[in-house]
Amino acid sequence: MARAGDCFNVADFERQARKRLPAPLYHYIAGGADDERTAAANVLGFERYNLAPNYLQDIRSIDMRRTVLGRELAWPLFLAPTGMTRMFHQAGEIGVAQEAESSGVGYSLSTMGTASIEDVGRMTAGPKMFQLYLLNDEAMNFAMIDRCKAAGFDALCLTVDTVVAGNRERDLRTGLTVPPRLTPGSLLAFAARPRWCVDYLGGGAFSLPNVGEAGGSGDLTTLAAYFAAKMERNITWAAVERIASHWGRPFAIKGIQSVRDARLAASAGASAVILSNHGGRQLDGVPPTIDLVADIVDAIGDRVEVILDGGIRRGSHIVKALAMGARACMTGRPYLYALSAFGKPGVRRVLALMRAETERTLGLLGCASVDDLTRDHIRLAGDIPDFLQDGEARPNATHLRNIL
Ligand code: FNR
Repeated sequence: MARAGDCFNVADFERQARKRLPAPLYHYIAGGADDERTAAANVLGFERYNLAPNYLQDIRSIDMRRTVLGRELAWPLFLAPTGMTRMFHQAGEIGVAQEAESSGVGYSLSTMGTASIEDVGRMTAGPKMFQLYLLNDEAMNFAMIDRCKAAGFDALCLTVDTVVAGNRERDLRTGLTVPPRLTPGSLLAFAARPRWCVDYLGGGAFSLPNVGEAGGSGDLTTLAAYFAAKMERNITWAAVERIASHWGRPFAIKGIQSVRDARLAASAGASAVILSNHGGRQLDGVPPTIDLVADIVDAIGDRVEVILDGGIRRGSHIVKALAMGARACMTGRPYLYALSAFGKPGVRRVLALMRAETERTLGLLGCASVDDLTRDHIRLAGDIPDFLQDGEARPNATHLRNIL
């Protein structure tokens, strides 16, 4: 049986997670909306950009620190909010948050988390953000925000891209229920993963302590019905301003995909925008988030922090986003795969690998600091070399131009 140390990249962890998780749970993590084009494009989008190194620089020590949403990170990564983490491993949100703290990155707790705001606050001292789904009950929204203040959260982020539930066909096919429950359709899938069953049954009752008991039980249909009834479908900029001012600390909006919305977010009091399409789980057919970074940084980068979320699988992806102008990145599935496969040691290992990759990429680019990265370190893949674009009448240039 493989150990965390046998994994050398995120893809290795994904393979191990697939072996350990019952199929409905693996597909719940891996899947996206509709044809999953955006989910795939988020990752592939990074290949559209090549790296451009400059050597003979002093890179004996590499500084990856960044202050993001008011707290210094040892390297510029936040773990994205993901609901119901305890479905994947008993270590759950607390285990992940503790590994984030040890690695020096930020952690985000979801409204749909299986650990409470208070427990995460008490059991971790690292930079932490609470992710809010806006409910159509302002008192409930403010109550969650007050709990975050009392628990010492550093930042709040409001997710705005789930006003309508995404169409995740893998979940319909596998018969996923939340919490996991044996159904005639899923019985075999669970029976095939006895180790997961023992871990899950030993983990105590399954609940969603941040939204109250109403969301704490039932199958996906019940949960979907609860959210259909409770989710605010008319998130107004005025409501956003009220949330930001009630919170009064660093505030991010997650799900921004346009220059227009980024400008409005800055005006509404956001300290950061998280460029995100929910990992391709909501609106299929939108571009990879890496393609949004430069335009949005150019429009509002001097007013708010810009964070890229989606598709990060390598340290080099983080470096490309920073070179475009992002302040930091967020990642979801990589840590969920590592947690599902090996629990806390898995999360520790995947973060160590991604950190080492980021540092190595910086060194190989000739950058001693994340602040040395610029757009000169990026080229469009397949870009025609400058001398050809000049149209210089060199014999070789003409020949190359004809064959390109
Ligand atoms: C998510 N995501 C998410 N986002 C959010 O704001 N609140 C949530 O509760 C969840 N839940 C959730 C569960 C699972 C299983 C996944 C995979 C994702 C989206 C998440 O925060 C993030 O935007 C994406 O995961 C980013 O894409 P990558 O890093 O997974 O490619």
